[in-house]
Amino acid sequence: MRRENKEKKEQIIFSGIQPSGNLNIGNYIGAISQWVKMQDKYHCIFSIVDYHAITIKQDPNLLRQRIIEVTKIYLAAGIDSQQSIIFQQSTIPAHTELAWILNCYGAHIADLNKMTQFKTKAGEHQETVSVGLYDYPVLMAADILLYNTDLVPVGEDQKQHVELARDIARRFNNEFGEIFKIPQPVVRKDGARIMSLLDPTKKMSKSDDNQNNAIALLDSLELAQKKIMKAVTDSGSEIEYDLENKPALSNLLTIYAILGNREIPRLVKDYRGQGYGKFKKDLAKVVEKFLHNFQEKYNNISDNDVRQILEEGRIKAEALASQKLSEVRKLIGVR
Ligand code: TYM
Repeated sequence: MRRENKEKKEQIIFSGIQPSGNLNIGNYIGAISQWVKMQDKYHCIFSIVDYHAITIKQDPNLLRQRIIEVTKIYLAAGIDSQQSIIFQQSTIPAHTELAWILNCYGAHIADLNKMTQFKTKAGEHQETVSVGLYDYPVLMAADILLYNTDLVPVGEDQKQHVELARDIARRFNNEFGEIFKIPQPVVRKDGARIMSLLDPTKKMSKSDDNQNNAIALLDSLELAQKKIMKAVTDSGSEIEYDLENKPALSNLLTIYAILGNREIPRLVKDYRGQGYGKFKKDLAKVVEKFLHNFQEKYNNISDNDVRQILEEGRIKAEALASQKLSEVRKLIGVR
């Protein structure tokens, strides 16, 4: 039995979230909820990726506060700091150093030009946004490759970046030998792309100007309820899961099923003939219950606990990162 556990634990998981905007149920469903389940099986490393957040201007005081907030969110969601490494990206300079090396060896301009997230985020301002925003997938590749990562659990929108990390790793390995493990994205089947409550063609986003698009994990229960009641629905009145013809309702059904621990086909059956009003009221209750339990745990974590956990995480992660980085430095000839 012990041997089996040991074997299972050999694979390494790495993932992270930017401390920008208010984390929402999309981040929870697409990313964090997957992480929690993976802890028993794998060596997990979860980062608060603050150097990613500054690719868009941040208020320094708010950023400081959000780093603590995101760590508390990891913990409240069930990430166990005894079992998994939790650390703040900027406390380990190896990330930015490896990103620079990969900029020079591995990453091509043509790759970055293909990144859909850059196109969406930069919009019409592609020439005037920061170089960091453009180059951010290379920093993400460095995050992943530093730790011999096998699996990267993310939402659908980050899959392209993980694929780029694979390409970069392969190119580097071709040039210098098998130094980087080739990571794989892990995207859940349902809930990999939770959509905006106001527009089911857009993903729910923590950086959207209109925060009614998302239920933040720290929204008051009252506000969350209002947001659900205001969520757009599709024409008709039947509760159906049909991504093409009823995208808004399908999104709400997904949220209901995941946060309420139910199956979508069963929900559809139970709500047959009941109309949108009743469905939304019940969904609001499910969301409120989820947030209540979550926030109760969140409020019990002190800033001091967080600082200590981040410091312990830094020490553990740094030992791994610095080893990989020193191998890379030797390979490229700077040592
Ligand atoms: P970020 O901070 O934008 O999002 C964090 C995680 O939440 C997922 N996500 C969603 N999942 C489902 N539905 C949604 N509406 C939704 N919105 C966000 C994202 O896919 C992500 O998994 N670059 C990354 C952070 C990062 C990273 C890494 C991740 C930096 N380095 C290394 C993995 C490995 C980002 O900006 O995620």
